[in-house]
Amino acid sequence: MAIQSAKGTYDILPKDISKWHYLEDIIKKTCQLYNYKEIRTPMFESTELFIRGVGEATDIVSKEMYTFLDKGDRSITLRPEGTAGVVRSYVEHKLYSEPNQITKLYYMGPMFRYERMQRGRTRQFYQFGVEALGCEDPSVDAEIIALSVRIFKSLGLKEVKVAINTLGDKESRLNYREALIKHFKPIEKELCKDCQRRIEQNPLRVLDCKIDKTHPAMETAPKMADYLNDYSKLFFEKVLSYLGDLKIDYELDQNLVRGLDYYNHTVYEVMSNAEGFGAQSALGGGGRYNGLVEEVGGPDIPGVGFAFGMDRLLLALEAENIEIPIQDDIDVFIVSMSEKTYNYAFFLQEALRNNHVKCEKDYFNRKVKAQFKQADKLNATFTIIIGEDELNNGRISLKNMKTQIQEEVNLENVVNEIIKRLEVKDE
Ligand code: HAM
Repeated sequence: MAIQSAKGTYDILPKDISKWHYLEDIIKKTCQLYNYKEIRTPMFESTELFIRGVGEATDIVSKEMYTFLDKGDRSITLRPEGTAGVVRSYVEHKLYSEPNQITKLYYMGPMFRYERMQRGRTRQFYQFGVEALGCEDPSVDAEIIALSVRIFKSLGLKEVKVAINTLGDKESRLNYREALIKHFKPIEKELCKDCQRRIEQNPLRVLDCKIDKTHPAMETAPKMADYLNDYSKLFFEKVLSYLGDLKIDYELDQNLVRGLDYYNHTVYEVMSNAEGFGAQSALGGGGRYNGLVEEVGGPDIPGVGFAFGMDRLLLALEAENIEIPIQDDIDVFIVSMSEKTYNYAFFLQEALRNNHVKCEKDYFNRKVKAQFKQADKLNATFTIIIGEDELNNGRISLKNMKTQIQEEVNLENVVNEIIKRLEVKDE
């Protein structure tokens, strides 16, 4: 039996790769505009990093990690997300060494989570993310939201909703945590198994449980807003005011807590509202994580960032019927009439490529008709037809595949003649 791709993984085939290149290109250009620099970190890290960084009580760490011992008995984990690795690298390479410096980083690549599969949820998926480290100014929180909204706009996505909340600073969050434990403890038995565990470990997560969301205790649960200290309140007001200045629409969602432990202050998520997008509506999310750098062994340096599922962004484009401009035509197909001209075709195609002309030739000594068929299939703008007589006379035929007009040109000028015609086409 033929071997199939591992469960939860999928191949991105050549017919689909242009969509990815298009998305990656928009992401790169937008990040450059905001002066974020690319960072590439390993796809696996020591398990300890995610336990300390993402948090032992989170679903990601407790249930979803691909963890194994390597041959040296080290516990290794395939990265389930990008932030922990980026922060590890930031600390390891002391990217913070200069004072008053903001370090703005972005990344794209595969992440791995052992999750129950469904449309938009796979075990290897692709994230694009940004992390801004070294600055606790609320304008940075607003900037990363603006950056993500700009990417949606560039892609043409309209049905997106930004939901935002604050978890406050450490002190506010601790007070809120106590209040939640007090609220949920007496009705503990009525909640799902996961929530029973969460009450002590991370009671904020009870608030966004999908199973218990209709339990009356959710409605009456204490609200974060009532536990924010002045600094946290002011911080969040500033973030919202910056978003207002940029006319970015958002919805306040007091139950938005996010599934990773490292957040404080701003948290946000972006959902697709497009019809037929499916249950996995979160395109991405992020927030502030002051304290994470220290957790990973570095100094007390603040950070804020987000990540988007690239697979989901492409699904959202599909759901909104947005056509991606695909550019995989070729400029020239070289048709050779006989075996003798075959060698010349090989030489000519390299000469064309030296001049950045995208071309292809026949590799199978096929009949002329089959070669023209291939030229059509590849969407060639021109064909060059080389026959033995023409080769001896120093003349060669050029055919415009759209107009079907065929003309003869001098063999030694053929590259220039093609370039001239392609330039006219591009104008
Ligand atoms: P996250 O919410 O766990 O955040 O993941 C971000 C996005 O990754 C999700 O909204 C979703 O689009 C995509 N995603 C997650 N799991 C899957 C999956 N199994 N299949 C397909 N797509 C998936 C983080 O990962 C944080 N590191 C974000 C962050 C960066 N916060 C601060 N900086």
